[in-house]
Amino acid sequence: MTDSIQTPETADVPQEHLRSIRSFVLRQGHMTAAQQRAIDTLWPQFGVDYQAQVVDLNECFGRSNPKVLEIGFGMGTATVEIAKRLPDSDFLAIDVHGPGVGNILKLIGEEQVGNIRVMRHDAVEVVENMLADGALSGIHIFFPDPWHKKRHNKRRLVQTPFVAKLLPKLKTGGYIHLATDWEEYAVQMLEVLSGFENLQNTAADYAPTPSYRPETKFEARGKRLGHGVWDLVFEKIG
Ligand SMILES: C[S@@+](CC[C@H](N)C(=O)[O-])C[C@H]1O[C@@H](n2cnc3c(N)ncnc32)[C@H](O)[C@@H]1O
Repeated sequence: MTDSIQTPETADVPQEHLRSIRSFVLRQGHMTAAQQRAIDTLWPQFGVDYQAQVVDLNECFGRSNPKVLEIGFGMGTATVEIAKRLPDSDFLAIDVHGPGVGNILKLIGEEQVGNIRVMRHDAVEVVENMLADGALSGIHIFFPDPWHKKRHNKRRLVQTPFVAKLLPKLKTGGYIHLATDWEEYAVQMLEVLSGFENLQNTAADYAPTPSYRPETKFEARGKRLGHGVWDLVFEKIG
C-alpha cells in the first residue's frame, strides 16, 4: 500500500477503491518491422490519441452507426474478423501492447477494414474520461487477463467498481459480451454482471458463443491447455 496516498478522509476506505485497477503489465514484446511500418503509415488514419476529455465517436468514424468498445484486443485478429462480419457497426479497439497495436493496424491495412479505430492506452482511463454516457451499443471484453493467483485477483478488469463505470457509457438496449477460459473468473463475471439491476442476462447463465465472435488467439491457447470457454452476454435494460 505504499503507492497510494492516505489522508484522514481516506484512511477508512479500502485502498482498492481509491485508485483504478491496473489490469495489465506492460510487456516489452518484439515489434516486427511490418508492425512498426503499419503504425507509421496507418496511425494517422485509424489511431485515436488519448485525451482527458470526451470525444465524439461519430466524428472519429465519420458516421453515426452503432459503436462497440473492445477492451484488450491482443493481436487484433478476432477484432478484424468481427468488424468484417458486422460492417454496419464501428469498433473502438483498445490495448496497451505495442506489437498488438502494430499488428491490428497491419491487418486493417491488408484487409481494407474501415470500421475500426485503435487506441493504445489504459482502457480504464479511456472509459473514465473519453466516452460520453450512452455512446456505446456494445462492449466486448474477450479473455481478459485472468490474474489467476489469489493475491492477483484484485487486478482483474471485470469487477463491480469498473463495470459500474462502464455501464453508463452503454445505451439502453446495448449489450456487454465477456468471454473467458478461466472457470473461476467466469463465475466472478456472472456474479458481477448479475449484481446490476439494469443488466439482464440473455441466457440462463453462460451464453452460447455469438456467431460474430471467432476464436481468439488467447482462446486457442487456452483450449490447447485443456481449458473450457465461457461467454456471457447481458443486455442493458434501463
Ligand atoms: C489475455 S489478453 C487477450 C487478448 C485477446 N482478447 C485474445 O483473446 O486473444 C488480454 C489483453 O488485454 C490487454 N489489457 C489488459 N488490461 C488492459 C487495459 N486496462 N487497457 C487496455 N488493454 C488492456 C492486455 O494488454 C492484453 O493484450
